[in-house]
Amino acid sequence: MTRSHNLAILGGDGIGPEVVAEGLKVLDRLEDLEGFTTERVDYDLGGRRYLDTGEVLADETLDELRGSDAIYLGAVGTPDVPPGVIEKGLLLKLRFAFDQYVNHRPVKLYPGVTSPIAGLTPERCDFVVVRENTESVYAGAGGTLYRGTPAEVATQESINTRHGVERILRYAFELAASRDGKLTLCHKTNVLTNAGDLWMRTFTEVGESDFPQVERDYVHVDAACLYFVTSPERFDVVVTENLFGDIITDLGAALQGGLGLAASGNLDPTRRAPSMFEPVHGSAPDIVGQGKADPIAAIMSLGQLLAFLGEDGAAARVERAIAAELTEHGGARPDGSRSTTADVGDRIAELVGD
Ligand code: IPM
Ligand code: MN
Repeated sequence: MTRSHNLAILGGDGIGPEVVAEGLKVLDRLEDLEGFTTERVDYDLGGRRYLDTGEVLADETLDELRGSDAIYLGAVGTPDVPPGVIEKGLLLKLRFAFDQYVNHRPVKLYPGVTSPIAGLTPERCDFVVVRENTESVYAGAGGTLYRGTPAEVATQESINTRHGVERILRYAFELAASRDGKLTLCHKTNVLTNAGDLWMRTFTEVGESDFPQVERDYVHVDAACLYFVTSPERFDVVVTENLFGDIITDLGAALQGGLGLAASGNLDPTRRAPSMFEPVHGSAPDIVGQGKADPIAAIMSLGQLLAFLGEDGAAARVERAIAAELTEHGGARPDGSRSTTADVGDRIAELVGD
């Protein structure tokens, strides 16, 4: 019987629909090559839709999305909507509602790509950041008192549970074990002595009891920023809490040649709910509709989606095609002149056939 997958497609705002269109072009070709099919349902969600209708994400839509096998997301957010409305009401809501507790973000420099770090070579930059995706300051604990008065108080607490910390550490240990690599915990245990203690104790306990073969290392998050730039080769899998993970993965994206090349998967490894795959970049309203957006991060995210659904052959094709495209045209990213968004998508849709 033909394998079939139900995909929810959320192009979203800004360049989101443009890069997703290129991903779907590649997907069409992969279905022919690998003999599987997809049922795709398009969802009109994001800042534009909120401005038109006042609605961010209806409960019925959330229920419908729950029935899909995976979600493919472009980008959400528009400058006309106040900060937080779409981010919290849509993106974070989906991550939390579907308990996508892993944010899996590779940091890989491909041959042909020039990193802004002078002299950085692909051999020295190939690691994965595993970002906890449901807790920390993102959990929404805290509040404001006496707003607008001289006595105003604002708190924004970092929530860390043993359950949440242990499950993300287990995912990261398993990933490190599968790569025959080491696992680096990134935190700030010298100042965040409560949360840091929970993370460090759990890291040591889980590592000693269940993953003795995985070498363990630790870096403070400030030092991690330095080492990402000066010696990325010291990392293989890095596991960290939500906010630190948000920040260091933008730095990781810079290492690998920019946000246009940074992919991510928001995963529920238990598979009780759909996982969601999205480029790390945002909606980039300044370049919308100009064919300047690099679709590669979105196509890489599609590769992660396919691997997660068990389409390993298709995922491997995506990986090879992106490597070939970057080797050939690494210096000609669609940053204004030589290749448009659609050119890159067309070429990768060809290359997946090799
Ligand atoms: C990311 C983004 C989001 C985050 C924003 C848009 C809420 O920066 O996916 O890294 O902070 O997680
Ligand atoms: Mn971010």
